[in-house]
Amino acid sequence: MSNPQFRWWQTGIVYQIYPRSFQDSNGDGVGDLPGIVSRLDYLVDLGVDAIWISPFYKSPMADFGYDVADYCDVDPIFGTLADFDHLLEEAHARGIKVIIDWVPNHTSSEHPWFLESRSSRDNPKRDWYIWRDAKPDGSRPNNWGSIFGGPAWEWDETTQQYYYHYFVKGQPDLNWANPEVVKAMTDVLRFWLQRGVDGFRMDVVYLLAKYPGMPDNPINPDATPLNENDIFGVQHHVYDSIQPEVHRYTRMFRQITDQYGDTVIVGEVWEDDLNEWIKFYGPEGDEIQLPFNFRLMQLKEWNAGVVSASVNEFEDALPEFAWPNYVIGNHDRTRPATRVGSQAQARIAQMLLLTVRGTPTMYQGDELGMEEAQIPREQWVDPWGINLGITRDGCRTPMQWDGSRYAGFSTVEPWLPVQADHTWRNVEAMSDDPHSFLSLVKRLIALRRVEPALHLGVYRRAGAPDGVFAYIREHDGRRFLIALNFTFEEKRVPLNGPGVVAISTHLDRADETAADTLTLRPDEGVVVLLG
Ligand code: GLC
Repeated sequence: MSNPQFRWWQTGIVYQIYPRSFQDSNGDGVGDLPGIVSRLDYLVDLGVDAIWISPFYKSPMADFGYDVADYCDVDPIFGTLADFDHLLEEAHARGIKVIIDWVPNHTSSEHPWFLESRSSRDNPKRDWYIWRDAKPDGSRPNNWGSIFGGPAWEWDETTQQYYYHYFVKGQPDLNWANPEVVKAMTDVLRFWLQRGVDGFRMDVVYLLAKYPGMPDNPINPDATPLNENDIFGVQHHVYDSIQPEVHRYTRMFRQITDQYGDTVIVGEVWEDDLNEWIKFYGPEGDEIQLPFNFRLMQLKEWNAGVVSASVNEFEDALPEFAWPNYVIGNHDRTRPATRVGSQAQARIAQMLLLTVRGTPTMYQGDELGMEEAQIPREQWVDPWGINLGITRDGCRTPMQWDGSRYAGFSTVEPWLPVQADHTWRNVEAMSDDPHSFLSLVKRLIALRRVEPALHLGVYRRAGAPDGVFAYIREHDGRRFLIALNFTFEEKRVPLNGPGVVAISTHLDRADETAADTLTLRPDEGVVVLLG
């Protein structure tokens, strides 16, 4: 799948590993790095090109690793630095690139930098974080809320000031306006690049620059807060979200990673305004190569109209130099199989993800059609869920490898419950079933790998009846029509010439030929080779 004009992160597929839930190798109920190594052959078999591993750094786990206490070491729960080097070596030996998570916006409140910073007002690291006096009446410096609930300011008794935390109070925000912070955090990038990683997924990278003076956010009178803790949810995020200065940092990060060969920056950027979002590619494509496109994950409805509008609007807005990408599931959002309403539509979602133009990022377990787990409230561990009632635990349950008691993930009760459907929805059973969800995903990946039209070809809209989203992918005269039926009715799709079905989401009509039109069954998606 190599074409010199395209880079691996354009033509390839990224697979997200949430290490706590992928594979436990030492029987403590939590996944780890050696566990990932033991499953690399599965990933080769699946056909992915790169893995992005969510944080495995030293952490008190207030936000399950997104609260980092040492950026250059591995938490003992996940293994050691030597285990990471081994993982890198084993992945590379199999032709799999490794992207790691970098969490630049905040550290853990137990990071030595923060411990120093909070020790006294004149500590040299005081200004590494965002400290403010109380207002004269003792109240907080401004009205900002934490996205995880409650106010964004935490009072520090010792030094009699508040510190700022966009996430939980165990995640104080770093002060990127301080050049020493910039130096320390970019040294972390170099540390991992020198070890040989192929790129970074940069956590909430859009938040790094803070508005000078940090004034109150305006209140949004139309907001519907999640509960009484949701201060964040009732405001317009004028001052606590994207600030233009952030691009100074993203450009700088790119200059660093570019010095280390064929690397990539994937950026977590939540921004509904497409024009603002596009700015993260940089005016000349000199910032983030793949700012995550979460649009499909954020759709309120799942039908041909909204899905095609989302894709087409995105395609139309992208400048020439910007490479598209799509995400339909991750460790922060409801599993796509649950979101789109049925397993049949979840198959269509995978067909879309793997045939639309751009880099797909696939979240572990979504290749099995795993559903959002219904976990009783008293077992919730996610701080967001506990504070605001929208738990992310349901998409973080253990990977389902086989039908045994703990799904082949562990030998003991895991940190989150294994889902009941693991007895049949598991890698082992589904690998043996030629019509399974996993078999569909493998077929789609295999076809995408061998067909340049699908991994680098142009994208064009195609005519289709209501309820069907159809598009063409083409390269070097080889043309595919992808037609996705979002309804429960039969639909006739024009091919405008002969075609051969390459894959149906039902996996039962490959090689079927059609003269001029093709009938789609209810809830069916097809990839058809035209001509
Ligand atoms: C990102 C991560 C999320 C984490 C948050 C704070 O949104 O994806 O899991 O809680 O950043 O680091």
